Amino acid sequence: MRRLLPPPAAELDDAALVDAYRLPPGRSLRMDFVASPDGSIAVDGRSAGLGSPGDKRVFRVLRALADVVLVGAGTAGAEGYRPVAPDSPVGLLRTSIGRPAGLPIAVVSRSASLDPGSALAAEPSTLVVTCAAADAGRRAALSAAGATVLVCGDDDVDLPAAVAALAERGLEQVTCEGGPQLLRAALGAGVVDELDLTIAPALVGSAQRLLPGDLPAPVGLELRQVLEEDGVLFTRYRVTGGEEELP
Ligand SMILES: NC(=O)c1ccc[n+]([C@@H]2O[C@H](COP(=O)([O-])OP(=O)(O)OC[C@H]3O[C@@H](n4cnc5c(N)ncnc54)[C@H](OP(=O)(O)O)[C@@H]3O)[C@@H](O)[C@H]2O)c1
Repeated sequence: MRRLLPPPAAELDDAALVDAYRLPPGRSLRMDFVASPDGSIAVDGRSAGLGSPGDKRVFRVLRALADVVLVGAGTAGAEGYRPVAPDSPVGLLRTSIGRPAGLPIAVVSRSASLDPGSALAAEPSTLVVTCAAADAGRRAALSAAGATVLVCGDDDVDLPAAVAALAERGLEQVTCEGGPQLLRAALGAGVVDELDLTIAPALVGSAQRLLPGDLPAPVGLELRQVLEEDGVLFTRYRVTGGEEELP
């Protein structure tokens, strides 16, 4: 992996890669996505088709640096999300940089649709971020399974309230792993500080795109960093504005 921007160009070892993604202390929400240059985010319904060894490393680094992973229920289901085990590559990387091995996963679901019988629901550190309109029985079943249910909003998940609720639990640095519906809502709610976008060297033409619909207004991005490995670009953008409620 080598850094192209900011100068000077340099080869990055594992420790330098972690440093390249470190954040200052305090609240932040970064979005982690892999896409093709045509904006496709999945091949046959999974992101793995766009993946690469470098993307896996960056994914692990972002998880290692995070206090919590935020993910939409659609992605958690499609990608088979499971709790982060202490002896997994992410858990081991976390301990190697002085962080607790455990990493909570917070699933955003308007309808509290996470399967109460899943390993994710049974993991005590799992959070389900939902709203008051979600079926009370489903919410109770998820609590009984072991997860913590956070009710943020009435008819829909209020994402600023959700991010504040996570911060109140000491989960200030959020890595959001999508998917597209959650990205669009989070941009519309103005809670995204950073986009970490891996650009895979392939054209896919998938209907599954980074954004599933228009934003109310373009959201400005400031390019902060570009890394490269085997033709894969790893970009780091700061989100500079464009908050407006979605229709
Ligand atoms: N290339 C990549 O980096 C990448 C990253 C992530 C995902 N993906 C792909 O994207 C696909 C999934 O797309 P998706 O758009 O369905 O994913 P998603 O945004 O993860 O999931 C949509 C679901 O999440 C919940 N949700 C999302 N935003 C919400 C909000 N603001 N308020 C309340 N609930 C919200 C809802 O769940 P309920 O229906 O339970 O209410 C909604 O139906 C998969 O194929 C996955 O592989 C690719």
